[in-house]
Amino acid sequence: MPVTTIIGTQWGDEGKGKCVDAAAADADAVVRFQGGNNAGHTLVVDGEKTVLHLIPSGALYDGVDCYLARGTVLNPETFLEEVEALRDRGVDMAGRLFVSQNTPLIMPWHIEMDAARESGEGAIGTTKKGIGPTYEQFVARQAILAGDLRRPDDAIAKIEMFYGERLASLRANWNGEGDPPFATVDQAVERFRRRHEQVYTRLVPFISDVETELRERIRAGDHIVMEGAQGTYLDVGMGTYPFVTSSHTTAAGACTGAGVAPRAIDRVIGVCKAYTTRVGDGPFPTELPVDSGVGRHLQDVGNEYGATTGRPRRCGWLDLPMLTEAVDINGCDEVVITKLDVLSGLDEIKLAVDHADGEPVYETFEGWQNDITDVRDTEELPENARRYLEFIAQRLAPFDCTIGQVSVGPGRRQIFEY
Ligand code: IMP
Repeated sequence: MPVTTIIGTQWGDEGKGKCVDAAAADADAVVRFQGGNNAGHTLVVDGEKTVLHLIPSGALYDGVDCYLARGTVLNPETFLEEVEALRDRGVDMAGRLFVSQNTPLIMPWHIEMDAARESGEGAIGTTKKGIGPTYEQFVARQAILAGDLRRPDDAIAKIEMFYGERLASLRANWNGEGDPPFATVDQAVERFRRRHEQVYTRLVPFISDVETELRERIRAGDHIVMEGAQGTYLDVGMGTYPFVTSSHTTAAGACTGAGVAPRAIDRVIGVCKAYTTRVGDGPFPTELPVDSGVGRHLQDVGNEYGATTGRPRRCGWLDLPMLTEAVDINGCDEVVITKLDVLSGLDEIKLAVDHADGEPVYETFEGWQNDITDVRDTEELPENARRYLEFIAQRLAPFDCTIGQVSVGPGRRQIFEY
């Protein structure tokens, strides 16, 4: 399929990085269309682990071009650090990594604003990377865009015009003691000039007209993977508002985020963990306590600690009504079930099949004890694992959706067709 969008059906951390990496093997390009370095995509190749926060998961294939499209937000320092870390690993991104000239830049005051808000009553448990405040300034039509780095005087004019308003807001959100430590307008301009000389100039060679190029490549029939970050229920519009990220994480976001038409997308793959996790605050109907029992098992065996912030993830059972709604919202053609191996060793497995008065209604399945990490065929799975998957597949069918693949470990080869 020429253009495939891969998105998360839960609250992120579903294992999208691995699915994108698998799809990238046959792709010409991989595109990030939303989010920033709040994401953390873990890839394990030949036992070596790489965590990418910004650069698309196609990075590890030589011939695959990587794009950061206009719907993303970009922290220049993090971006350059990631490029250098890949270079140290022998992966050279020169000439095959492109940043949209229209991508808003995360500036120091955005990170300060995120931290200030998170220290107050309105905290929602963000990653404190400045994501929300950057999108906010973009929507206010005041953002500094990557393309402005080619003409630093334009960026400086924007700081002079708009930073005063941000500074007032920073001061109003300051919860610390003593004088607020924020830069004045003059200091912000000076800081920008210094960073431009030392850092930002190194970003300039990566900047291009990504959206036009993507449309041309789609017209030419190139195989392109649109890589979603976070998950459906963190979408600013469709998620568990206000406990959401500030971008459109759903499949439709690939169109506005990469500047391509809805009809350009041929296939949508939803990634779903065999159970559920969430980092940050907000509702989580099937949540389990993690101090002991099944919750502890999921957190430990699944290594459920954030790839970006290291925070322990909240854990719980898979929630089918949420999954089918996500499949519906995103128009998923198929779902990849990941981390099925983490359920091995449990005596029984619960699956939320309905919600009544806000509480999940569970169906209970017998568990399996065998290690399934070497399984490469549905028929080789323990019968109880097949029953669990079959039940999920039946619920997906009315949405014209199937289970496409099942993943049983972090390695590139630990995945098979269902
Ligand atoms: P922000 O994206 O840093 O503004 O955080 C908003 C919410 O999204 C918080 O609950 C974060 O924990 C969550 N979030 C952001 N990025 C990720 C991710 O990559 N995986 C899981 N949760 C995320």
